[in-house]
Amino acid sequence: MEDATDSTHGCGNPSDPEGDRCSDSDFGPSVLGTKDYWEDAYQKELETFKDIGDVGEIWFGEESMSRVLRWMDKAKISENAAILDIGTGNGAFLVELAKHGYRNLTGIDYSAASIELVRNVLQAEDLTEVTVKEMDFLNCQGELKDFDVCIDKGTYDAISLNPHDTEKGKKLYVQALKDALKDKGFFAITSCNWTKEQLLDRFREGFEFVQALPTPSFQFGGKTGNNVTALIFKRVH
Ligand SMILES: C[S@@+](CC[C@H](N)C(=O)[O-])C[C@H]1O[C@@H](n2cnc3c(N)ncnc32)[C@H](O)[C@@H]1O
Repeated sequence: MEDATDSTHGCGNPSDPEGDRCSDSDFGPSVLGTKDYWEDAYQKELETFKDIGDVGEIWFGEESMSRVLRWMDKAKISENAAILDIGTGNGAFLVELAKHGYRNLTGIDYSAASIELVRNVLQAEDLTEVTVKEMDFLNCQGELKDFDVCIDKGTYDAISLNPHDTEKGKKLYVQALKDALKDKGFFAITSCNWTKEQLLDRFREGFEFVQALPTPSFQFGGKTGNNVTALIFKRVH
């Protein structure tokens, strides 16, 4: 995720094929880690949606949704599986999941404007069965549980950019995810700020690595890296 205030890091974090692990805090805080930023962004997207019906930004592009959907097909995730989209934004992924046949969908976001936008988008698509809630994932008071699949596209990235209590936020995220998933439930994360190695390290305890989904790679200085990392984990006790 590009840093809107300074570009110390952001999308394009190359994974290190030689195994040097980057520090878990090697990029600076950003406004993208604040609720005010997202509230403002989705308020604007909501107005645009009402004006011209444009849902706004698809983070990491359409392919970032397609690759997770392809994995769900291969993994034979049931159409009745309880699926949570963490930090759903404009709800575009919920719409794709519903169109793909998934029937038990929940999206949460801590931005009230995001949730209003999602409700408008779902209504326009006639997808009224999807549950959406304004909720801080880091403070969800045990309300989120028994999910078969949790999906994150850019939300852990945003939380990692919070200028305040970043380390605490990351730990709360892991705990909230553990609580939200059923035993053997899956976690599909798409990140542009963290490498595979860093995510494996963060989601080490209570999770088993399942697979990395192929993402476009680039070569620089004799090394190969990925702009986006997409990983699947399984919750284990
Ligand atoms: C980069 S956007 C991605 C949105 C969406 N997942 C997508 O792919 O379009 C990050 C999202 O995370 C949400 N978010 C950040 N921190 C959150 C938190 N603690 N609880 C719930 N949502 C959060 C933001 O409001 C924003 O919608």
